[in-house]
Amino acid sequence: MPVKPLTLAAVGCGSRVRTYTKYAALLPDRYQVVAAADPNPARLRLMEALVPAGSLRTFASDRDLFAAGKLADILMIGTQDAYHVQPCIAAMRLGYDVLLEKPIATNFAEVRALELEARRLGRRVMICHVLRYTPFYTTVKSLLESGAIGTIATINAVEGVAPFHQAHSFVRGHWGVVEKSSPMIIAKCCHDLDIISWLADSSCTHVSSFGSLSYFNAANAPAGAPARCTDGCPVAANCFYDAHRYLGDQRHWLQWVFDGGVEADDESVRQWLRTSPWGRCVYHCDNTAVDRQTVNLTFANHITANLTMTAFDSGRSLEIRGTEGVLLGGEAVKRLSGHDIAITRHRDGKTEYHDIKIEEGEFVGHGGGDFGLMNALDHEWQKPNSADMRSSLERSVESHAMGFAAEEARLNGGVVDLTEYRQRG
Ligand SMILES: NC(=O)c1ccc[n+]([C@@H]2O[C@H](COP(=O)([O-])OP(=O)(O)OC[C@H]3O[C@@H](n4cnc5c(N)ncnc54)[C@H](O)[C@@H]3O)[C@@H](O)[C@H]2O)c1
Repeated sequence: MPVKPLTLAAVGCGSRVRTYTKYAALLPDRYQVVAAADPNPARLRLMEALVPAGSLRTFASDRDLFAAGKLADILMIGTQDAYHVQPCIAAMRLGYDVLLEKPIATNFAEVRALELEARRLGRRVMICHVLRYTPFYTTVKSLLESGAIGTIATINAVEGVAPFHQAHSFVRGHWGVVEKSSPMIIAKCCHDLDIISWLADSSCTHVSSFGSLSYFNAANAPAGAPARCTDGCPVAANCFYDAHRYLGDQRHWLQWVFDGGVEADDESVRQWLRTSPWGRCVYHCDNTAVDRQTVNLTFANHITANLTMTAFDSGRSLEIRGTEGVLLGGEAVKRLSGHDIAITRHRDGKTEYHDIKIEEGEFVGHGGGDFGLMNALDHEWQKPNSADMRSSLERSVESHAMGFAAEEARLNGGVVDLTEYRQRG
Protein backbone atom coordinates (compact mmCIF):
# COMPACT_ATOMS: atom_id res chain seq x y z
CA MET A 1 0.00 0.00 0.00
CA PRO A 2 1.44 3.42 -0.92
CA VAL A 3 2.48 5.51 2.07
CA LYS A 4 0.72 8.85 2.43
CA PRO A 5 3.03 11.80 1.62
CA LEU A 6 4.19 13.90 4.55
CA THR A 7 2.58 17.31 4.41
CA LEU A 8 4.74 20.37 5.04
CA ALA A 9 3.93 23.95 5.94
CA ALA A 10 6.46 26.78 6.06
CA VAL A 11 7.13 29.89 8.10
CA GLY A 12 9.66 32.30 6.56
CA CYS A 13 9.91 31.77 2.81
CA GLY A 14 13.49 32.94 2.27
CA SER A 15 16.20 31.10 0.43
CA ARG A 16 16.36 28.16 2.84
CA VAL A 17 12.69 27.24 2.87
CA ARG A 18 12.44 27.71 -0.88
CA THR A 19 15.39 25.34 -1.36
CA TYR A 20 13.70 22.65 0.76
CA THR A 21 10.39 23.29 -1.02
CA LYS A 22 12.05 22.92 -4.42
CA TYR A 23 13.46 19.53 -3.40
CA ALA A 24 10.19 18.44 -1.77
CA ALA A 25 8.42 19.26 -5.04
CA LEU A 26 10.77 16.88 -6.85
CA LEU A 27 9.51 14.07 -4.59
CA PRO A 28 5.70 14.47 -4.84
CA ASP A 29 4.98 10.91 -3.73
CA ARG A 30 6.72 11.62 -0.46
CA TYR A 31 6.06 15.31 0.31
CA GLN A 32 3.40 17.93 -0.27
CA VAL A 33 4.01 21.56 0.70
CA VAL A 34 0.53 22.80 1.55
CA ALA A 35 0.90 26.14 3.37
CA ALA A 36 3.37 29.00 3.67
CA ALA A 37 3.64 32.22 5.65
CA ASP A 38 5.76 35.29 4.94
CA PRO A 39 5.05 39.02 5.29
CA ASN A 40 6.72 39.54 1.92
CA PRO A 41 4.07 38.75 -0.76
CA ALA A 42 6.73 38.37 -3.46
CA ARG A 43 8.23 35.47 -1.52
CA LEU A 44 4.85 33.80 -1.25
CA ARG A 45 4.54 34.10 -5.05
CA LEU A 46 7.98 32.43 -5.38
CA MET A 47 6.74 29.60 -3.15
CA GLU A 48 3.59 29.20 -5.23
CA ALA A 49 5.72 28.86 -8.32
CA LEU A 50 7.50 25.86 -6.78
CA VAL A 51 4.42 23.73 -6.10
CA PRO A 52 1.44 22.55 -8.19
CA ALA A 53 -0.90 25.43 -9.08
CA GLY A 54 -3.56 26.11 -6.45
CA SER A 55 -2.08 23.72 -3.89
CA LEU A 56 -0.57 26.26 -1.45
CA ARG A 57 -2.45 28.17 1.24
CA THR A 58 -0.59 31.42 1.95
CA PHE A 59 -0.50 33.62 5.03
CA ALA A 60 1.01 37.04 5.80
CA SER A 61 2.67 35.91 9.03
CA ASP A 62 3.37 32.95 11.26
CA ARG A 63 0.60 34.13 13.57
CA ASP A 64 -1.96 34.04 10.73
CA LEU A 65 -0.82 30.56 9.76
CA PHE A 66 -1.10 29.36 13.36
CA ALA A 67 -4.57 30.90 13.65
CA ALA A 68 -5.70 28.53 10.89
CA GLY A 69 -4.91 25.50 13.10
CA LYS A 70 -2.58 22.61 12.31
CA LEU A 71 -2.32 22.43 8.54
CA ALA A 72 0.44 19.87 7.99
CA ASP A 73 2.48 17.11 9.60
CA ILE A 74 5.67 19.18 9.75
CA LEU A 75 6.30 22.91 9.97
CA MET A 76 9.50 24.15 8.33
CA ILE A 77 10.83 27.26 10.08
CA GLY A 78 13.21 29.40 8.02
CA THR A 79 12.92 32.82 9.61
CA GLN A 80 16.07 34.65 10.66
CA ASP A 81 18.12 33.46 13.65
CA ALA A 82 16.48 35.68 16.29
CA TYR A 83 13.01 34.42 15.38
CA HIS A 84 13.29 30.64 15.62
CA VAL A 85 12.31 29.84 19.20
CA GLN A 86 9.01 31.71 19.34
CA PRO A 87 7.41 30.17 16.21
CA CYS A 88 8.87 26.76 17.04
CA ILE A 89 7.28 26.69 20.49
CA ALA A 90 3.98 28.04 19.13
CA ALA A 91 4.00 25.37 16.42
CA MET A 92 4.76 22.55 18.84
CA ARG A 93 1.91 23.69 21.09
CA LEU A 94 -0.43 23.50 18.07
CA GLY A 95 0.66 19.91 17.49
CA TYR A 96 3.26 20.36 14.75
CA ASP A 97 6.51 18.46 14.53
CA VAL A 98 9.16 20.89 13.29
CA LEU A 99 12.02 21.10 10.80
CA LEU A 100 13.91 24.05 12.27
CA GLU A 101 16.68 25.99 10.58
CA LYS A 102 19.89 26.35 12.50
CA PRO A 103 20.72 27.92 14.87
CA ILE A 104 18.12 26.60 17.28
CA ALA A 105 18.29 29.91 19.17
CA THR A 106 20.64 32.85 19.66
CA ASN A 107 21.61 31.88 23.21
CA PHE A 108 21.92 28.60 25.09
CA ALA A 109 19.23 29.30 27.68
CA GLU A 110 16.65 29.47 24.87
CA VAL A 111 18.06 26.32 23.28
CA ARG A 112 17.43 24.49 26.56
CA ALA A 113 13.97 26.01 26.97
CA LEU A 114 13.00 24.83 23.48
CA GLU A 115 14.37 21.36 24.15
CA LEU A 116 12.43 21.09 27.42
CA GLU A 117 9.20 22.19 25.73
CA ALA A 118 9.67 19.69 22.89
CA ARG A 119 10.20 16.95 25.46
CA ARG A 120 7.20 18.03 27.55
CA LEU A 121 4.94 18.02 24.48
CA GLY A 122 6.49 14.90 22.94
CA ARG A 123 7.22 16.70 19.65
CA ARG A 124 9.81 15.71 17.06
CA VAL A 125 12.19 18.49 16.04
CA MET A 126 14.91 18.13 13.44
CA ILE A 127 17.57 20.80 12.98
CA CYS A 128 18.83 21.65 9.48
CA HIS A 129 22.42 20.58 10.08
CA VAL A 130 22.56 19.69 6.42
CA LEU A 131 26.24 18.66 6.44
CA ARG A 132 25.24 15.45 8.22
CA TYR A 133 23.38 14.52 5.04
CA THR A 134 26.20 15.24 2.57
CA PRO A 135 27.86 12.39 0.69
CA PHE A 136 31.25 13.74 1.88
CA TYR A 137 30.64 13.67 5.65
CA THR A 138 28.53 10.50 5.41
CA THR A 139 31.51 8.81 3.74
CA VAL A 140 33.95 10.15 6.35
CA LYS A 141 31.67 8.88 9.14
CA SER A 142 31.37 5.41 7.65
CA LEU A 143 35.13 5.18 6.98
CA LEU A 144 35.78 6.05 10.62
CA GLU A 145 33.16 3.53 11.78
CA SER A 146 34.77 0.86 9.61
CA GLY A 147 37.99 1.34 11.59
CA ALA A 148 39.93 2.80 8.65
CA ILE A 149 42.20 4.80 10.98
CA GLY A 150 41.73 2.79 14.18
CA THR A 151 40.65 4.68 17.29
CA ILE A 152 40.34 8.43 16.71
CA ALA A 153 42.79 10.49 18.77
CA THR A 154 42.53 13.99 17.32
CA ILE A 155 40.28 15.95 14.96
CA ASN A 156 41.34 19.20 13.30
CA ALA A 157 38.80 21.05 11.18
CA VAL A 158 39.08 24.27 9.22
CA GLU A 159 36.12 26.28 8.00
CA GLY A 160 37.33 28.72 5.36
CA VAL A 161 34.37 31.05 4.95
CA ALA A 162 36.04 32.77 1.93
CA PRO A 163 36.75 36.49 1.90
CA PHE A 164 33.85 37.65 -0.30
CA HIS A 165 31.40 35.33 1.44
CA GLN A 166 32.55 36.73 4.79
CA ALA A 167 31.97 40.25 3.49
CA HIS A 168 28.59 39.38 2.00
CA SER A 169 27.11 37.49 4.95
CA PHE A 170 29.09 38.37 8.07
CA VAL A 171 30.12 41.99 7.42
CA ARG A 172 27.43 43.58 5.23
CA GLY A 173 24.79 40.89 5.58
CA HIS A 174 22.32 39.20 7.89
CA TRP A 175 24.89 37.86 10.34
CA GLY A 176 27.28 40.84 10.56
CA VAL A 177 25.86 42.20 13.80
CA VAL A 178 26.07 39.44 16.39
CA GLU A 179 23.70 41.23 18.73
CA LYS A 180 20.92 41.00 16.11
CA SER A 181 21.65 37.42 15.01
CA SER A 182 24.06 34.95 16.62
CA PRO A 183 27.81 34.68 17.25
CA MET A 184 29.89 33.62 14.25
CA ILE A 185 30.85 30.32 15.89
CA ILE A 186 27.13 29.51 15.97
CA ALA A 187 25.87 31.33 12.85
CA LYS A 188 28.44 29.77 10.53
CA CYS A 189 30.21 27.11 12.52
CA CYS A 190 27.41 25.31 14.35
CA HIS A 191 27.65 23.01 11.32
CA ASP A 192 31.36 22.37 11.92
CA LEU A 193 30.97 21.84 15.66
CA ASP A 194 28.04 19.55 14.96
CA ILE A 195 30.15 17.48 12.57
CA ILE A 196 32.99 17.29 15.12
CA SER A 197 30.48 16.17 17.75
CA TRP A 198 29.10 13.53 15.36
CA LEU A 199 32.53 12.20 14.38
CA ALA A 200 33.88 12.23 17.95
CA ASP A 201 30.71 10.41 19.02
CA SER A 202 31.16 11.41 22.63
CA SER A 203 30.17 14.10 25.05
CA CYS A 204 32.30 17.26 24.96
CA THR A 205 33.72 18.06 28.38
CA HIS A 206 35.77 21.28 28.05
CA VAL A 207 36.09 24.18 25.58
CA SER A 208 38.44 27.12 25.09
CA SER A 209 38.50 29.65 22.27
CA PHE A 210 40.29 32.70 20.85
CA GLY A 211 39.24 35.02 18.07
CA SER A 212 38.56 38.57 17.01
CA LEU A 213 37.25 40.93 14.40
CA SER A 214 40.56 42.38 13.27
CA TYR A 215 40.30 43.05 9.57
CA PHE A 216 36.84 44.23 8.52
CA ASN A 217 36.96 47.49 10.45
CA ALA A 218 37.72 51.18 9.96
CA ALA A 219 41.41 50.74 10.85
CA ASN A 220 41.88 48.88 7.56
CA ALA A 221 39.85 51.25 5.38
CA PRO A 222 41.80 52.62 2.41
CA ALA A 223 42.37 56.40 2.57
CA GLY A 224 39.34 58.25 1.30
CA ALA A 225 37.02 55.21 1.14
CA PRO A 226 33.44 56.50 1.56
CA ALA A 227 30.67 54.74 3.50
CA ARG A 228 29.31 53.19 0.29
CA CYS A 229 31.14 51.80 -2.71
CA THR A 230 28.58 53.65 -4.83
CA ASP A 231 29.72 57.03 -3.43
CA GLY A 232 32.73 57.29 -5.73
CA CYS A 233 35.38 55.32 -3.88
CA PRO A 234 38.92 56.25 -5.06
CA VAL A 235 40.19 52.65 -4.72
CA ALA A 236 37.12 50.83 -6.10
CA ALA A 237 38.94 49.54 -9.17
CA ASN A 238 41.46 47.66 -7.06
CA CYS A 239 39.28 46.69 -4.09
CA PHE A 240 38.50 42.99 -3.77
CA TYR A 241 35.32 43.85 -1.84
CA ASP A 242 34.01 46.56 -4.20
CA ALA A 243 30.21 46.19 -4.17
CA HIS A 244 30.12 46.71 -7.93
CA ARG A 245 31.29 43.10 -8.18
CA TYR A 246 27.62 42.23 -7.52
CA LEU A 247 27.07 43.46 -11.08
CA GLY A 248 29.64 41.00 -12.40
CA ASP A 249 31.44 37.95 -11.08
CA GLN A 250 29.69 38.02 -7.67
CA ARG A 251 26.16 38.49 -8.99
CA HIS A 252 25.07 35.02 -7.83
CA TRP A 253 24.97 36.29 -4.23
CA LEU A 254 21.96 38.43 -5.12
CA GLN A 255 19.68 35.39 -5.31
CA TRP A 256 19.68 35.22 -1.52
CA VAL A 257 19.18 38.89 -0.68
CA PHE A 258 17.57 40.65 -3.66
CA ASP A 259 14.63 38.80 -5.16
CA GLY A 260 14.99 38.92 -8.95
CA GLY A 261 18.44 40.51 -8.59
CA VAL A 262 20.30 37.90 -10.62
CA GLU A 263 18.10 38.58 -13.66
CA ALA A 264 17.67 42.33 -13.02
CA ASP A 265 19.24 44.91 -15.34
CA ASP A 266 22.45 46.58 -14.17
CA GLU A 267 20.77 49.91 -13.41
CA SER A 268 18.32 48.19 -11.01
CA VAL A 269 21.23 46.49 -9.23
CA ARG A 270 23.14 49.81 -9.05
CA GLN A 271 20.05 51.45 -7.57
CA TRP A 272 19.75 48.63 -5.01
CA LEU A 273 23.44 48.98 -4.07
CA ARG A 274 22.90 52.68 -3.32
CA THR A 275 20.51 51.88 -0.47
CA SER A 276 20.93 48.24 0.57
CA PRO A 277 23.40 47.00 3.22
CA TRP A 278 25.30 45.20 0.46
CA GLY A 279 26.42 48.51 -1.10
CA ARG A 280 28.38 49.50 2.00
CA CYS A 281 32.17 49.65 2.28
CA VAL A 282 33.26 46.53 4.17
CA TYR A 283 35.55 48.66 6.34
CA HIS A 284 32.74 51.04 7.32
CA CYS A 285 29.94 48.70 8.47
CA ASP A 286 28.35 48.12 11.88
CA ASN A 287 29.60 44.50 11.93
CA THR A 288 30.67 42.77 15.13
CA ALA A 289 31.12 39.16 13.91
CA VAL A 290 34.68 37.85 14.23
CA ASP A 291 36.73 37.19 11.09
CA ARG A 292 38.89 34.52 12.76
CA GLN A 293 38.29 32.14 15.66
CA THR A 294 39.78 28.96 16.96
CA VAL A 295 38.05 26.52 19.29
CA ASN A 296 39.70 23.73 21.32
CA LEU A 297 37.57 20.88 22.56
CA THR A 298 38.07 17.72 24.55
CA PHE A 299 35.66 14.81 24.80
CA ALA A 300 34.77 12.18 27.40
CA ASN A 301 36.39 9.52 25.18
CA HIS A 302 39.68 11.51 25.25
CA ILE A 303 39.47 12.75 21.65
CA THR A 304 40.83 16.28 21.39
CA ALA A 305 39.62 18.55 18.61
CA ASN A 306 40.26 21.95 17.15
CA LEU A 307 38.19 24.07 14.80
CA THR A 308 39.61 27.08 12.98
CA MET A 309 37.13 29.45 11.41
CA THR A 310 38.74 31.98 9.09
CA ALA A 311 37.49 34.53 6.59
CA PHE A 312 40.74 34.09 4.70
CA ASP A 313 40.44 30.68 3.09
CA SER A 314 37.76 28.93 1.15
CA GLY A 315 36.12 25.60 1.94
CA ARG A 316 36.11 23.04 4.73
CA SER A 317 39.05 20.77 5.53
CA LEU A 318 39.44 17.91 7.98
CA GLU A 319 42.43 16.11 9.47
CA ILE A 320 41.59 13.14 11.67
CA ARG A 321 44.37 11.16 13.25
CA GLY A 322 43.87 7.70 14.70
CA THR A 323 45.83 4.85 16.16
CA GLU A 324 46.02 3.09 12.76
CA GLY A 325 46.22 5.97 10.31
CA VAL A 326 45.40 9.50 9.19
CA LEU A 327 42.34 10.71 7.30
CA LEU A 328 42.65 13.97 5.38
CA GLY A 329 39.52 15.29 3.73
CA GLY A 330 37.96 18.30 2.08
CA GLU A 331 39.29 21.37 0.39
CA ALA A 332 42.97 21.29 1.39
CA VAL A 333 43.57 17.70 0.34
CA LYS A 334 41.51 18.20 -2.82
CA ARG A 335 43.71 21.15 -3.84
CA LEU A 336 46.87 19.11 -3.37
CA SER A 337 45.81 15.64 -4.53
CA GLY A 338 42.66 16.12 -6.59
CA HIS A 339 40.87 13.67 -4.27
CA ASP A 340 38.23 14.29 -1.60
CA ILE A 341 39.56 11.95 1.08
CA ALA A 342 43.01 10.43 1.61
CA ILE A 343 43.67 7.72 4.18
CA THR A 344 47.27 6.88 5.00
CA ARG A 345 47.97 3.81 7.12
CA HIS A 346 50.71 3.95 9.78
CA ARG A 347 51.50 0.27 9.15
CA ASP A 348 52.86 0.60 5.61
CA GLY A 349 52.57 4.29 4.76
CA LYS A 350 50.19 3.46 1.90
CA THR A 351 47.54 6.02 0.94
CA GLU A 352 44.13 5.19 -0.46
CA TYR A 353 41.89 7.84 -1.98
CA HIS A 354 38.11 8.23 -1.95
CA ASP A 355 36.17 10.51 -4.25
CA ILE A 356 32.69 11.80 -3.68
CA LYS A 357 30.14 12.05 -6.42
CA ILE A 358 27.43 14.66 -6.11
CA GLU A 359 24.79 14.87 -8.76
CA GLU A 360 25.35 17.94 -10.87
CA GLY A 361 22.98 20.84 -11.15
CA GLU A 362 20.11 20.97 -8.72
CA PHE A 363 21.58 18.77 -6.04
CA VAL A 364 24.85 20.46 -5.13
CA GLY A 365 23.60 22.97 -2.50
CA HIS A 366 25.76 22.64 0.63
CA GLY A 367 27.71 19.73 -0.86
CA GLY A 368 24.52 17.80 -1.53
CA GLY A 369 23.31 18.32 2.05
CA ASP A 370 20.21 20.36 1.23
CA PHE A 371 18.87 17.64 -1.02
CA GLY A 372 20.26 14.95 1.31
CA LEU A 373 18.26 16.34 4.22
CA MET A 374 15.03 16.47 2.26
CA ASN A 375 15.66 13.02 0.85
CA ALA A 376 16.13 11.66 4.38
CA LEU A 377 13.32 13.54 6.10
CA ASP A 378 10.51 11.00 5.76
CA HIS A 379 12.81 8.11 6.76
CA GLU A 380 13.95 10.09 9.79
CA TRP A 381 10.31 10.70 10.74
CA GLN A 382 9.74 6.94 10.93
CA LYS A 383 12.40 6.39 13.59
CA PRO A 384 10.60 5.37 16.78
CA ASN A 385 12.82 7.52 18.97
CA SER A 386 13.10 11.07 17.62
CA ALA A 387 16.48 11.54 19.35
CA ASP A 388 17.86 8.93 16.93
CA MET A 389 17.28 11.13 13.90
CA ARG A 390 20.71 11.96 12.51
CA SER A 391 20.16 15.67 13.06
CA SER A 392 17.79 15.48 16.00
CA LEU A 393 17.18 18.37 18.38
CA GLU A 394 18.88 16.38 21.12
CA ARG A 395 22.09 15.96 19.09
CA SER A 396 22.01 19.57 17.97
CA VAL A 397 21.63 20.80 21.54
CA GLU A 398 24.96 19.12 22.28
CA SER A 399 26.78 20.88 19.44
CA HIS A 400 25.07 24.19 20.20
CA ALA A 401 26.32 23.87 23.80
CA MET A 402 29.85 23.50 22.40
CA GLY A 403 29.39 26.63 20.28
CA PHE A 404 27.82 28.89 22.88
CA ALA A 405 30.39 27.75 25.44
CA ALA A 406 33.16 28.52 22.92
CA GLU A 407 31.80 32.04 22.54
CA GLU A 408 31.75 32.46 26.31
CA ALA A 409 35.35 31.23 26.46
CA ARG A 410 36.40 33.62 23.66
CA LEU A 411 34.81 36.58 25.39
CA ASN A 412 35.82 35.79 28.97
CA GLY A 413 39.01 33.79 28.51
CA GLY A 414 39.72 30.51 30.25
CA VAL A 415 38.21 27.08 29.84
CA VAL A 416 34.49 26.33 30.03
CA ASP A 417 33.47 23.11 31.77
CA LEU A 418 30.66 21.82 29.56
CA THR A 419 29.03 19.72 32.28
CA GLU A 420 28.64 22.79 34.44
CA TYR A 421 27.66 24.92 31.39
CA ARG A 422 24.85 22.57 30.34
CA GLN A 423 23.37 22.66 33.84
CA ARG A 424 23.58 26.44 33.91
CA GLY A 425 21.80 26.68 30.54
N1 LIG B 1 21.18 25.09 7.17
C1 LIG B 1 21.99 25.90 6.54
O1 LIG B 1 23.00 25.48 5.99
C2 LIG B 1 21.70 27.37 6.48
C3 LIG B 1 22.30 28.18 5.52
C4 LIG B 1 22.00 29.53 5.50
C5 LIG B 1 21.12 30.04 6.43
N2 LIG B 1 20.56 29.25 7.37
C6 LIG B 1 19.63 29.77 8.39
O2 LIG B 1 18.33 29.72 7.82
C7 LIG B 1 17.53 30.81 8.33
C8 LIG B 1 16.89 31.51 7.16
O3 LIG B 1 17.89 32.02 6.30
P1 LIG B 1 17.48 32.67 4.89
O4 LIG B 1 18.74 33.09 4.26
O5 LIG B 1 16.55 31.77 4.16
O6 LIG B 1 16.70 33.94 5.43
P2 LIG B 1 15.88 35.04 4.65
O7 LIG B 1 16.11 36.32 5.37
O8 LIG B 1 16.13 34.95 3.18
O9 LIG B 1 14.36 34.58 4.90
C9 LIG B 1 13.67 34.75 6.09
C10 LIG B 1 12.22 35.01 5.73
O10 LIG B 1 11.43 35.06 6.92
C11 LIG B 1 10.37 35.97 6.67
N3 LIG B 1 9.71 36.34 7.94
C12 LIG B 1 10.09 37.27 8.82
N4 LIG B 1 9.19 37.35 9.83
C13 LIG B 1 8.24 36.41 9.58
C14 LIG B 1 7.04 36.01 10.25
N5 LIG B 1 6.66 36.57 11.39
N6 LIG B 1 6.29 35.03 9.70
C15 LIG B 1 6.67 34.46 8.53
N7 LIG B 1 7.79 34.81 7.86
C16 LIG B 1 8.56 35.78 8.38
C17 LIG B 1 11.06 37.10 5.93
O11 LIG B 1 10.14 37.95 5.24
C18 LIG B 1 11.97 36.33 4.99
O12 LIG B 1 11.36 36.09 3.73
C19 LIG B 1 18.47 31.66 9.16
O13 LIG B 1 18.27 31.41 10.52
C20 LIG B 1 19.86 31.22 8.74
O14 LIG B 1 20.84 31.33 9.75
C21 LIG B 1 20.82 27.94 7.40
